[in-house]
Amino acid sequence: MVVEAPVRWPRKVNEIPKEVFVREDLFEQEMEKIFKGPEWHPVAHESELPNRRDFKTVVLARIPLLITRDDSDQIQVFFNSCTHRGTQLEPSRKGNKKLFECPYHRWVFNGSGELISCPKRAEGYAPSFSMNRYSLGRPRVANFKGLIFVSFSEAAPALEDYLGEISDTLAAIMANDGRLRLLGYQKIVFDSNWKGYNDSDSYHAALLHGAFRALNWQGGKGTQVVSKLRGHIGATSELSIPKDGGSSLLKDPSLLEFRDEDPKVGSRVVKMFPLFVAVKHLDVINLRFATPISVDKTEVHYAYFAHVDDDEAMVRHRIRQASNFTGPSGFVSMEDASVFQRIHIGNQTPGVAAFQRGVTDEDEISFDYKQNDEASNLVKWDYYRRIMGFAREGEQ
Ligand code: FES
Ligand SMILES: [Fe+2]
Repeated sequence: MVVEAPVRWPRKVNEIPKEVFVREDLFEQEMEKIFKGPEWHPVAHESELPNRRDFKTVVLARIPLLITRDDSDQIQVFFNSCTHRGTQLEPSRKGNKKLFECPYHRWVFNGSGELISCPKRAEGYAPSFSMNRYSLGRPRVANFKGLIFVSFSEAAPALEDYLGEISDTLAAIMANDGRLRLLGYQKIVFDSNWKGYNDSDSYHAALLHGAFRALNWQGGKGTQVVSKLRGHIGATSELSIPKDGGSSLLKDPSLLEFRDEDPKVGSRVVKMFPLFVAVKHLDVINLRFATPISVDKTEVHYAYFAHVDDDEAMVRHRIRQASNFTGPSGFVSMEDASVFQRIHIGNQTPGVAAFQRGVTDEDEISFDYKQNDEASNLVKWDYYRRIMGFAREGEQ
């Protein structure tokens, strides 16, 4: 049996031990303590299932889920597992179905999760069997402006309290009313630990990404709000179109137009513990549903949206901006993917990752950060440390 060494967590609040990004034994603990722990995880926006009988499946921290819009127009979330012997019920990513039939022994469920038929009317089944005791199992479910959250723990607080200080930014990303229309997805598996992916910060934006440099990220005004307990971040940054309109950068500078959003709040980012990100850069409405796959792989589905009241020209503008700006082939996310992988390679070495920008006290966590600080992530790191049960050096 391999006995893993305890994690040595530095005393300084701005130092994170690199081993937490690469140790497989910690990955298994994280699945239990965090992903199945007292957290809420967004898994879909209800506009991804616009019609009755639409469904979507997702896997979150290895747990397969089936999300449906049932015959009564209600969004439902189930464990994607037949209640007979546990077979995955629906293998497709998306579709429209009245009934879900398990291939193994042909139990059939409706979109409300009820078991409605068994072959030969359950002849020879155990004495206590009755179909109404075998509906699909469910996680806890909550909804914020159409964004559907699940939790696998009764200990997660009410969603409103969980979101806390970041609710306004999250609502603003979803056009305030959450009346969205799905445009499509871009899906990627990053060669990175999930915490490396989610440790992205405002500081890097104009340094790694030429597109944000051109939009004057570093020179603009903005704010970062950090939720006290879990360190969720809601950030707003002013952007501006270059003086020449972008014509020296792009053959078609119309890609940089702000048609919906005010450039003063040209970038809004919500980063939630443990792994959800939502952004509105320019007119791009983008929710990023993510799951850890293994200690060195993180899958992210970028879902893009328009507002239901948009005309076709606006929809087209959002699609062009989304595909050229964020997403795996855009100006921004391609660079992120490369850096996430290099962070993961670098984290195989001993020592610590040291946060600098925005650190005012190395002995105590602060909650007060400026637009371009990286240290706002330290609130989340302190929550991670505590929920994983790691003491700082010198503490009991
Ligand atoms: S496992 Fe699904 S019907 Fe038997
Ligand atoms: Fe980035």
